[in-house]
Amino acid sequence: LELQMNLEEIEKGGYDHFMLKEIYEQPRAIKDTYRGRLLAEQGLVKMSGIEQNMEKFLNANRIIIVACGTSWHAGLVAEYIFEDLARIPVEVEYASEFRYRNPVITDKDILIAISQSGETADTLAAIKLAKERGAFVFGVCNVVGSSIARETDAGAYTHAGPEIGVASTKAFTTQITVLTLMALRLAKAKGVFSETKYREHLTELATIPSKVEIALQSNPLIEIIADVYKDSTNCLYLGRGYNFPVALEGALKLKEISYIHAEGYPAAEMKHGPIALIDEHMPVFVIATKKGHYEKVVSNIQEIKSRKGKIIAIVTEGDEQVRDLADHVIEVPETLESLTPLLTTIPLQLISYHIAVMRGCNVDQPRNLAKSVTVE
Ligand code: G6P
Repeated sequence: LELQMNLEEIEKGGYDHFMLKEIYEQPRAIKDTYRGRLLAEQGLVKMSGIEQNMEKFLNANRIIIVACGTSWHAGLVAEYIFEDLARIPVEVEYASEFRYRNPVITDKDILIAISQSGETADTLAAIKLAKERGAFVFGVCNVVGSSIARETDAGAYTHAGPEIGVASTKAFTTQITVLTLMALRLAKAKGVFSETKYREHLTELATIPSKVEIALQSNPLIEIIADVYKDSTNCLYLGRGYNFPVALEGALKLKEISYIHAEGYPAAEMKHGPIALIDEHMPVFVIATKKGHYEKVVSNIQEIKSRKGKIIAIVTEGDEQVRDLADHVIEVPETLESLTPLLTTIPLQLISYHIAVMRGCNVDQPRNLAKSVTVE
């Protein structure tokens, strides 16, 4: 009878859902992504797609990133990374908007297309348009040999392994990992980074899988928090800087699988609208890690508290200040500011997962959504 365990159960490897399995696979997936590329001790980043096209990257006027859904959020994180670390101007576009708005593109532009499946119709169309207009096109895909991987001039795979859950998890963190490696390689080539800073980033990136592992240990606490907020009808997600896109991604995860209305916002924009929504029935997830506008986020938290909003804060280990203000805190290990999204994303994935399970939703195959959107 034990042998009758069906194939799907075996594939889930003891987890109740693919999504949970994939969340837990992230330490390994991130390692697989940088394996052979990140040589921290030697101070090297090796990426053939970049090496072979270094001139193009160094002479580019700007990078345009196109993607959809969660991959678009990874693109937004990459905007902060490329501008901050490599000092290259970046624009991030929804592929579906880019392809229809007659964009100004020249042969000095580089288009980076990010796609887990490598099959998203809008992203593919954006690539074709950019190529027609002379841009160099670089793909960041997970699925090897996919249409986007074949259509691009060069690229880097994420090597996350198959992602089955419709709501993307490990694809997101591995996309950010690849894009970070790219930015670090280019920062080095451009000489815009001091050797010490560069080395510090490489060494720290190599610690991320173990820090993700630590972040995952908050799972029991997150389950308790999920139980408190599972019947909410609306949620807000706030973050600033590198963690603004993480707020968007946190809100998207909750919408996708639990069908609770959620909005992500840059924390400072709260006062231009969303603050009107805050009352004792509104849970607000705030990313308030120590590096990156911490004091400003703390004052945003005070504004929420004075309007009786419920505050669930993602903080750096050992944080005291936010703990005093928030209803719940979830800790993540300390890291460099540019790498915080790789850690702050984890608790937000888990909270969505648990809320969706508690609401009886089909976590791996949410209604109306598809893993790969090959039509417009
Ligand atoms: C669909 C999926 C999302 C994904 C998006 C982009 O909407 O449900 O999880 O982020 O497509 O997909 P891609 O394969 O291009 O990353």
